[in-house]
Amino acid sequence: MKKRYFSITAIVAVMFLVALSGYLRLQAKHDVPARVIMDNNGGRVIFTHQAHAQDYGFECADCHHDNIGQDQPLACGSCHPSAFDEKFRVEHQKTFPNDEACMRCHSETPTGPLAKEDKPDTEIIPTRADAFHNQCMSCHEESGGPYGKDSCYDCHAR
Ligand code: HEC
Ligand code: HEC
Ligand code: HEC
Ligand code: HEC
Ligand code: HEC
Repeated sequence: MKKRYFSITAIVAVMFLVALSGYLRLQAKHDVPARVIMDNNGGRVIFTHQAHAQDYGFECADCHHDNIGQDQPLACGSCHPSAFDEKFRVEHQKTFPNDEACMRCHSETPTGPLAKEDKPDTEIIPTRADAFHNQCMSCHEESGGPYGKDSCYDCHAR
Protein backbone atom coordinates (compact mmCIF):
# COMPACT_ATOMS: atom_id res chain seq x y z
CA MET A 1 0.00 0.00 0.00
CA LYS A 2 2.65 2.49 1.10
CA LYS A 3 4.73 1.61 -1.92
CA ARG A 4 1.81 2.38 -4.22
CA TYR A 5 1.30 5.80 -2.68
CA PHE A 6 4.99 6.45 -3.03
CA SER A 7 4.99 5.70 -6.74
CA ILE A 8 1.88 7.78 -7.35
CA THR A 9 3.48 10.66 -5.49
CA ALA A 10 6.63 10.19 -7.55
CA ILE A 11 4.72 10.21 -10.84
CA VAL A 12 2.76 13.30 -9.84
CA ALA A 13 5.99 15.00 -8.78
CA VAL A 14 7.64 14.22 -12.12
CA MET A 15 4.61 15.45 -14.04
CA PHE A 16 4.64 18.64 -12.00
CA LEU A 17 8.32 19.25 -12.71
CA VAL A 18 7.89 18.66 -16.44
CA ALA A 19 4.96 21.07 -16.52
CA LEU A 20 6.86 23.63 -14.46
CA SER A 21 9.98 23.54 -16.62
CA GLY A 22 7.85 23.85 -19.75
CA TYR A 23 6.06 26.81 -18.21
CA LEU A 24 9.31 28.50 -17.18
CA ARG A 25 10.83 27.99 -20.62
CA LEU A 26 7.72 29.51 -22.21
CA GLN A 27 7.90 32.40 -19.77
CA ALA A 28 11.57 33.06 -20.54
CA LYS A 29 10.80 33.07 -24.25
CA HIS A 30 7.77 35.23 -23.75
CA ASP A 31 9.70 37.91 -21.84
CA VAL A 32 11.95 38.69 -24.81
CA PRO A 33 10.08 41.54 -26.48
CA ALA A 34 9.14 41.21 -30.16
CA ARG A 35 9.11 44.98 -30.61
CA VAL A 36 10.16 47.84 -28.36
CA ILE A 37 8.33 51.16 -28.74
CA MET A 38 10.47 54.15 -27.82
CA ASP A 39 8.70 57.49 -27.51
CA ASN A 40 11.04 60.49 -27.55
CA ASN A 41 11.45 64.07 -28.79
CA GLY A 42 12.78 62.97 -32.14
CA GLY A 43 9.62 60.98 -32.98
CA ARG A 44 8.57 57.48 -31.97
CA VAL A 45 11.01 54.66 -32.81
CA ILE A 46 9.73 51.12 -33.22
CA PHE A 47 12.66 48.80 -32.65
CA THR A 48 12.20 45.36 -34.21
CA HIS A 49 13.78 43.49 -31.32
CA GLN A 50 12.91 39.98 -32.45
CA ALA A 51 14.20 40.53 -35.99
CA HIS A 52 17.43 41.93 -34.57
CA ALA A 53 17.87 39.13 -32.04
CA GLN A 54 16.87 36.26 -34.35
CA ASP A 55 16.86 37.03 -38.09
CA TYR A 56 19.94 39.28 -38.18
CA GLY A 57 21.93 36.73 -36.20
CA PHE A 58 23.18 38.69 -33.17
CA GLU A 59 23.83 37.45 -29.65
CA CYS A 60 22.01 39.02 -26.71
CA ALA A 61 25.34 40.25 -25.39
CA ASP A 62 26.10 42.15 -28.62
CA CYS A 63 23.65 44.77 -27.35
CA HIS A 64 23.02 43.93 -23.67
CA HIS A 65 26.56 44.60 -22.52
CA ASP A 66 25.65 44.49 -18.84
CA ASN A 67 26.45 40.99 -17.64
CA ILE A 68 24.16 41.29 -14.65
CA GLY A 69 21.13 39.36 -15.85
CA GLN A 70 22.13 37.68 -19.08
CA ASP A 71 18.98 35.49 -19.21
CA GLN A 72 16.79 38.45 -18.38
CA PRO A 73 18.71 41.59 -19.35
CA LEU A 74 17.97 44.94 -17.74
CA ALA A 75 16.38 47.82 -19.61
CA CYS A 76 19.09 50.10 -21.02
CA GLY A 77 17.38 53.00 -19.25
CA SER A 78 18.09 51.63 -15.77
CA CYS A 79 21.73 52.65 -16.34
CA HIS A 80 21.38 55.16 -19.17
CA PRO A 81 18.80 57.70 -17.97
CA SER A 82 17.55 60.61 -20.04
CA ALA A 83 19.58 62.78 -17.62
CA PHE A 84 21.71 62.24 -14.51
CA ASP A 85 19.45 64.51 -12.50
CA GLU A 86 17.84 64.36 -9.06
CA LYS A 87 15.22 61.88 -10.29
CA PHE A 88 17.89 59.45 -11.43
CA ARG A 89 19.85 59.81 -8.17
CA VAL A 90 16.80 58.87 -6.13
CA GLU A 91 15.30 56.17 -8.33
CA HIS A 92 18.22 54.24 -9.78
CA GLN A 93 19.04 52.59 -6.46
CA LYS A 94 15.76 50.65 -6.67
CA THR A 95 16.01 49.51 -10.30
CA PHE A 96 18.68 46.83 -9.91
CA PRO A 97 18.16 43.19 -8.95
CA ASN A 98 21.14 42.91 -6.60
CA ASP A 99 24.12 44.68 -5.06
CA GLU A 100 26.43 43.22 -7.69
CA ALA A 101 24.74 45.57 -10.15
CA CYS A 102 25.95 48.62 -8.22
CA MET A 103 29.54 47.69 -9.03
CA ARG A 104 28.90 48.45 -12.68
CA CYS A 105 29.38 52.11 -11.73
CA HIS A 106 30.36 52.29 -8.04
CA SER A 107 33.48 50.79 -6.46
CA GLU A 108 31.39 49.47 -3.56
CA THR A 109 27.69 49.40 -2.75
CA PRO A 110 26.87 52.90 -1.52
CA THR A 111 24.35 53.34 1.29
CA GLY A 112 24.07 57.11 1.46
CA PRO A 113 25.20 60.43 -0.05
CA LEU A 114 28.58 60.23 -1.75
CA ALA A 115 31.74 62.27 -1.36
CA LYS A 116 32.82 64.00 -4.55
CA GLU A 117 35.64 61.55 -5.26
CA ASP A 118 33.28 58.55 -4.92
CA LYS A 119 30.79 59.74 -7.50
CA PRO A 120 30.69 57.75 -10.72
CA ASP A 121 32.11 59.57 -13.71
CA THR A 122 29.02 60.47 -15.77
CA GLU A 123 31.30 61.71 -18.57
CA ILE A 124 31.89 58.10 -19.60
CA ILE A 125 28.32 56.82 -19.02
CA PRO A 126 26.22 57.95 -21.99
CA THR A 127 22.64 59.15 -21.48
CA ARG A 128 19.83 57.07 -22.94
CA ALA A 129 19.51 58.82 -26.32
CA ASP A 130 23.29 58.90 -26.83
CA ALA A 131 23.58 55.24 -25.85
CA PHE A 132 20.94 54.27 -28.41
CA HIS A 133 22.21 56.47 -31.25
CA ASN A 134 25.70 55.25 -30.56
CA GLN A 135 24.88 51.53 -30.39
CA CYS A 136 22.21 51.40 -33.13
CA MET A 137 24.22 53.40 -35.64
CA SER A 138 27.69 52.04 -35.08
CA CYS A 139 26.40 48.52 -35.67
CA HIS A 140 24.45 49.65 -38.75
CA GLU A 141 27.53 51.28 -40.20
CA GLU A 142 29.35 47.99 -39.78
CA SER A 143 26.63 45.42 -40.61
CA GLY A 144 23.83 47.19 -42.52
CA GLY A 145 20.75 49.12 -41.37
CA PRO A 146 20.11 52.89 -41.28
CA TYR A 147 22.80 55.35 -40.09
CA GLY A 148 24.17 58.80 -40.92
CA LYS A 149 22.72 62.29 -41.17
CA ASP A 150 20.03 61.51 -43.75
CA SER A 151 18.73 58.43 -41.96
CA CYS A 152 16.67 60.08 -39.19
CA TYR A 153 13.27 59.07 -40.58
CA ASP A 154 14.32 55.49 -41.24
CA CYS A 155 14.00 55.06 -37.47
CA HIS A 156 11.88 58.00 -36.26
CA ALA A 157 8.21 58.40 -37.19
CA ARG A 158 7.49 61.80 -38.73
C1 HEC B 1 20.44 44.48 -31.68
C2 HEC B 1 20.45 44.69 -30.24
C3 HEC B 1 19.77 43.71 -29.34
C4 HEC B 1 19.86 42.33 -29.34
C5 HEC B 1 20.70 41.44 -30.25
C6 HEC B 1 19.04 41.86 -28.23
N1 HEC B 1 18.46 42.94 -27.60
FE1 HEC B 1 17.15 42.86 -26.04
N2 HEC B 1 16.87 44.86 -26.17
C7 HEC B 1 17.58 45.72 -26.99
C8 HEC B 1 17.11 47.08 -26.80
C9 HEC B 1 17.64 48.31 -27.48
C10 HEC B 1 16.09 47.01 -25.82
C11 HEC B 1 15.26 48.15 -25.24
C12 HEC B 1 15.68 48.43 -23.84
C13 HEC B 1 15.08 49.68 -23.28
O1 HEC B 1 14.02 50.11 -23.74
O2 HEC B 1 15.69 50.22 -22.36
C14 HEC B 1 15.97 45.59 -25.45
C15 HEC B 1 15.07 45.10 -24.48
C16 HEC B 1 15.09 43.81 -24.01
C17 HEC B 1 14.30 43.34 -22.88
C18 HEC B 1 13.32 44.18 -22.07
C19 HEC B 1 14.06 44.84 -20.94
C20 HEC B 1 13.15 45.70 -20.09
O3 HEC B 1 13.05 45.43 -18.89
O4 HEC B 1 12.57 46.65 -20.64
C21 HEC B 1 14.62 42.02 -22.69
C22 HEC B 1 14.09 41.10 -21.61
C23 HEC B 1 15.59 41.67 -23.71
N3 HEC B 1 15.84 42.78 -24.49
C24 HEC B 1 16.16 40.42 -23.84
C25 HEC B 1 17.01 40.05 -24.87
C26 HEC B 1 17.50 38.69 -25.06
C27 HEC B 1 17.23 37.52 -24.13
C28 HEC B 1 18.25 38.71 -26.21
C29 HEC B 1 18.95 37.56 -26.90
C30 HEC B 1 18.07 36.47 -27.29
C31 HEC B 1 18.23 40.09 -26.72
N4 HEC B 1 17.47 40.86 -25.88
C32 HEC B 1 18.89 40.53 -27.86
C33 HEC B 1 18.55 45.37 -27.88
C34 HEC B 1 18.88 44.08 -28.24
C1 HEC C 1 23.88 47.70 -15.60
C2 HEC C 1 24.09 48.96 -16.23
C3 HEC C 1 23.99 49.07 -17.73
C4 HEC C 1 22.99 48.61 -18.57
C5 HEC C 1 21.74 47.83 -18.20
C6 HEC C 1 23.35 49.04 -19.91
N1 HEC C 1 24.50 49.77 -19.86
FE1 HEC C 1 25.40 50.69 -21.46
N2 HEC C 1 26.93 51.32 -20.22
C7 HEC C 1 26.94 51.17 -18.85
C8 HEC C 1 28.12 51.86 -18.32
C9 HEC C 1 28.50 51.95 -16.85
C10 HEC C 1 28.80 52.44 -19.43
C11 HEC C 1 30.08 53.29 -19.40
C12 HEC C 1 31.25 52.65 -20.04
C13 HEC C 1 31.52 51.28 -19.48
O1 HEC C 1 31.75 51.16 -18.26
O2 HEC C 1 31.49 50.32 -20.24
C14 HEC C 1 28.03 52.07 -20.62
C15 HEC C 1 28.35 52.40 -21.92
C16 HEC C 1 27.54 52.27 -23.02
C17 HEC C 1 27.86 52.73 -24.35
C18 HEC C 1 29.14 53.43 -24.80
C19 HEC C 1 30.30 52.51 -24.77
C20 HEC C 1 30.09 51.29 -25.60
O3 HEC C 1 30.19 50.16 -25.05
O4 HEC C 1 29.84 51.42 -26.80
C21 HEC C 1 26.79 52.40 -25.15
C22 HEC C 1 26.65 52.68 -26.64
C23 HEC C 1 25.81 51.73 -24.30
N3 HEC C 1 26.30 51.66 -23.01
C24 HEC C 1 24.59 51.25 -24.73
C25 HEC C 1 23.72 50.48 -23.96
C26 HEC C 1 22.47 49.90 -24.47
C27 HEC C 1 21.91 50.13 -25.86
C28 HEC C 1 21.93 49.17 -23.45
C29 HEC C 1 20.71 48.28 -23.48
C30 HEC C 1 20.63 47.34 -24.57
C31 HEC C 1 22.82 49.32 -22.29
N4 HEC C 1 23.87 50.11 -22.65
C32 HEC C 1 22.60 48.76 -21.04
C33 HEC C 1 26.04 50.48 -18.09
C34 HEC C 1 24.94 49.81 -18.57
C1 HEC D 1 24.79 53.18 -14.35
C2 HEC D 1 25.63 53.53 -13.26
C3 HEC D 1 25.14 53.31 -11.84
C4 HEC D 1 24.74 52.13 -11.26
C5 HEC D 1 24.68 50.76 -11.90
C6 HEC D 1 24.43 52.44 -9.89
N1 HEC D 1 24.65 53.78 -9.64
FE1 HEC D 1 24.39 54.75 -7.90
N2 HEC D 1 24.94 56.50 -8.76
C7 HEC D 1 25.26 56.66 -10.09
C8 HEC D 1 25.43 58.09 -10.38
C9 HEC D 1 25.78 58.68 -11.74
C10 HEC D 1 25.19 58.77 -9.17
C11 HEC D 1 25.18 60.28 -8.94
C12 HEC D 1 26.48 60.84 -8.63
C13 HEC D 1 26.33 62.33 -8.48
O1 HEC D 1 25.65 62.76 -7.55
O2 HEC D 1 26.89 63.03 -9.30
C14 HEC D 1 24.91 57.75 -8.16
C15 HEC D 1 24.66 58.02 -6.81
C16 HEC D 1 24.33 57.08 -5.87
C17 HEC D 1 24.09 57.34 -4.47
C18 HEC D 1 24.22 58.69 -3.79
C19 HEC D 1 23.00 59.49 -3.89
C20 HEC D 1 23.20 60.84 -3.26
O3 HEC D 1 22.19 61.44 -2.95
O4 HEC D 1 24.35 61.28 -3.09
C21 HEC D 1 23.74 56.15 -3.87
C22 HEC D 1 23.38 55.91 -2.41
C23 HEC D 1 23.77 55.14 -4.92
N3 HEC D 1 24.14 55.72 -6.11
C24 HEC D 1 23.46 53.82 -4.71
C25 HEC D 1 23.48 52.85 -5.69
C26 HEC D 1 23.12 51.46 -5.44
C27 HEC D 1 22.70 50.91 -4.08
C28 HEC D 1 23.28 50.82 -6.64
C29 HEC D 1 23.00 49.34 -6.93
C30 HEC D 1 21.75 48.81 -6.43
C31 HEC D 1 23.72 51.79 -7.63
N4 HEC D 1 23.82 53.01 -7.01
C32 HEC D 1 23.98 51.52 -8.96
C33 HEC D 1 25.41 55.66 -11.02
C34 HEC D 1 25.07 54.34 -10.82
C1 HEC E 1 24.40 44.59 -33.37
C2 HEC E 1 23.99 45.27 -34.59
C3 HEC E 1 22.75 46.14 -34.60
C4 HEC E 1 22.30 46.96 -33.59
C5 HEC E 1 22.91 47.24 -32.26
C6 HEC E 1 21.10 47.58 -34.10
N1 HEC E 1 20.83 47.16 -35.36
FE1 HEC E 1 19.24 47.74 -36.53
N2 HEC E 1 19.87 46.52 -37.99
C7 HEC E 1 20.98 45.70 -37.97
C8 HEC E 1 21.04 44.90 -39.19
C9 HEC E 1 22.12 43.90 -39.58
C10 HEC E 1 19.91 45.28 -39.95
C11 HEC E 1 19.43 44.66 -41.27
C12 HEC E 1 19.96 45.37 -42.44
C13 HEC E 1 19.40 44.72 -43.69
O1 HEC E 1 19.28 43.49 -43.74
O2 HEC E 1 19.02 45.49 -44.55
C14 HEC E 1 19.20 46.29 -39.19
C15 HEC E 1 18.03 46.93 -39.61
C16 HEC E 1 17.38 47.93 -38.94
C17 HEC E 1 16.21 48.65 -39.45
C18 HEC E 1 15.48 48.41 -40.78
C19 HEC E 1 14.80 47.05 -40.79
C20 HEC E 1 13.99 46.75 -39.54
O3 HEC E 1 14.19 45.66 -38.94
O4 HEC E 1 13.20 47.61 -39.10
C21 HEC E 1 15.85 49.55 -38.47
C22 HEC E 1 14.72 50.56 -38.51
C23 HEC E 1 16.78 49.37 -37.37
N3 HEC E 1 17.69 48.39 -37.69
C24 HEC E 1 16.71 50.07 -36.16
C25 HEC E 1 17.57 49.87 -35.08
C26 HEC E 1 17.48 50.59 -33.83
C27 HEC E 1 16.43 51.63 -33.48
C28 HEC E 1 18.51 50.15 -33.05
C29 HEC E 1 18.89 50.56 -31.69
C30 HEC E 1 17.85 50.57 -30.65
C31 HEC E 1 19.23 49.15 -33.81
N4 HEC E 1 18.63 49.00 -35.04
C32 HEC E 1 20.34 48.47 -33.35
C33 HEC E 1 21.90 45.63 -36.95
C34 HEC E 1 21.82 46.27 -35.72
C1 HEC F 1 19.06 53.62 -36.01
C2 HEC F 1 17.88 54.32 -35.60
C3 HEC F 1 17.99 55.82 -35.40
C4 HEC F 1 18.42 56.75 -36.31
C5 HEC F 1 18.96 56.53 -37.70
C6 HEC F 1 18.27 58.04 -35.66
N1 HEC F 1 17.76 57.87 -34.40
FE1 HEC F 1 17.31 59.36 -33.10
N2 HEC F 1 16.86 57.97 -31.66
C7 HEC F 1 16.84 56.62 -31.88
C8 HEC F 1 16.53 55.97 -30.63
C9 HEC F 1 16.41 54.48 -30.40
C10 HEC F 1 16.36 57.01 -29.66
C11 HEC F 1 16.09 56.88 -28.17
C12 HEC F 1 14.69 56.62 -27.85
C13 HEC F 1 14.50 56.55 -26.34
O1 HEC F 1 15.20 57.24 -25.58
O2 HEC F 1 13.64 55.79 -25.92
C14 HEC F 1 16.55 58.26 -30.38
C15 HEC F 1 16.39 59.51 -29.78
C16 HEC F 1 16.44 60.71 -30.48
C17 HEC F 1 16.07 62.00 -29.95
C18 HEC F 1 15.59 62.27 -28.52
C19 HEC F 1 16.72 62.71 -27.66
C20 HEC F 1 16.28 62.96 -26.25
O3 HEC F 1 17.16 63.32 -25.44
O4 HEC F 1 15.11 62.76 -25.93
C21 HEC F 1 16.26 62.89 -30.94
C22 HEC F 1 15.99 64.39 -30.88
C23 HEC F 1 16.75 62.19 -32.11
N3 HEC F 1 16.83 60.84 -31.79
C24 HEC F 1 17.06 62.76 -33.30
C25 HEC F 1 17.61 62.08 -34.40
C26 HEC F 1 18.10 62.74 -35.61
C27 HEC F 1 18.10 64.24 -35.84
C28 HEC F 1 18.55 61.75 -36.43
C29 HEC F 1 19.20 61.87 -37.79
C30 HEC F 1 20.44 62.65 -37.82
C31 HEC F 1 18.32 60.48 -35.73
N4 HEC F 1 17.77 60.73 -34.51
C32 HEC F 1 18.61 59.24 -36.26
C33 HEC F 1 17.09 55.96 -33.06
C34 HEC F 1 17.57 56.53 -34.21
